[in-house]
Amino acid sequence: MLIRKHNLLDGSAIPTSEITPQAKYEQYKRLSRRGLLTGAGAVAATALGADRIADLLAPSNRVHASTKLETVKSPLTTTGEQLTTLQDVTHYNNFYEFGVDKSQPAQNAGTLPTRPWTIKVSGLVKAPKTFDIDTLLKLHPLEERVYRHRCVERWSMVIPWVGYSLSELTKQCEPLATAKYVQFLSYFDPKVEKWWSESGIRWPYSEGLRMDEAMNPLTLLTFGLYGDILPNQNGAPVRLTVPWKYGYKSAKSIVAIKFLSSQPPTSWNDQAPDEYGFYSNVNPNHDHPRWSQKYERRIGQAFYAQQRTTLMFNGYTDQVGSLYSGMDLNRYY
Ligand code: MTE
Repeated sequence: MLIRKHNLLDGSAIPTSEITPQAKYEQYKRLSRRGLLTGAGAVAATALGADRIADLLAPSNRVHASTKLETVKSPLTTTGEQLTTLQDVTHYNNFYEFGVDKSQPAQNAGTLPTRPWTIKVSGLVKAPKTFDIDTLLKLHPLEERVYRHRCVERWSMVIPWVGYSLSELTKQCEPLATAKYVQFLSYFDPKVEKWWSESGIRWPYSEGLRMDEAMNPLTLLTFGLYGDILPNQNGAPVRLTVPWKYGYKSAKSIVAIKFLSSQPPTSWNDQAPDEYGFYSNVNPNHDHPRWSQKYERRIGQAFYAQQRTTLMFNGYTDQVGSLYSGMDLNRYY
């Protein structure tokens, strides 16, 4: 989303030396579970390096000291490409409630209160329901799914998400036959998300899917990444991941789901309808009014690395192409 100031659209802003390798991250978590400041922890901390420890203990990183989620491998993992580092996944974010710069959510989202947390389900359902986050976590086995993540701003990542198909929750919601769309609303508290006024978005953040898109098995109700619960800046404690659509369709920190008969208003479409459509399928043949969507840059690669060709539906045509047969995707962008 390009409304105001932005960082570079590639990973060059973060020198390779600053990237926390997953192994170090695991080591850090083991230490923090045992109590980093005890004698044994202090010895190991020395081995890690004082600067790195200071970095890991910084408020922006504390959100990672979290519980591992039990996962099963998923047949719906859809890419064998190199994973984007945890450091990049958690420090190059769009979460405008916590600031418009990519680095701000990691610095500011630590105050997001992720417990207690509920999702209220309403609208065209047999009966309204409220799901507690801990109930949701046990509703279905959690899967690890590696998906491509393509932002409308032309950067991309490859992320091992943790969750299960949204359809598992949708079935529990018992939507009526008249429900044709689903709306997702994010948490909004201006006292916590003090950066809300920087972007001009009408809050709370709202996104929507057509019912068949919501029921597609690829649409992931996401609770974690890299085997752990979601860091706050990535949309804790529960978000959506819709891998064939531009990143903004994936609402973070969801508190309400509504089943509707007509298309719900969505935040970016509301802000600039000619730039951000309701569908927002990744589509190299439909340019954004201000730039081509034919190419993308993988975050973490050097600035001079060759750009990648963007794939139709982000490479998920086999799974989702049929949802749009007969539709003019230049009109329904
Ligand atoms: N959800 C909320 N509530 N607020 C936001 O600003 N940004 C969207 C989406 N979900 C956003 C949001 C955009 S523009 C993108 S690209 C993705 O989240 C970014 O997800 P990531 O930070 O985990 O990569």
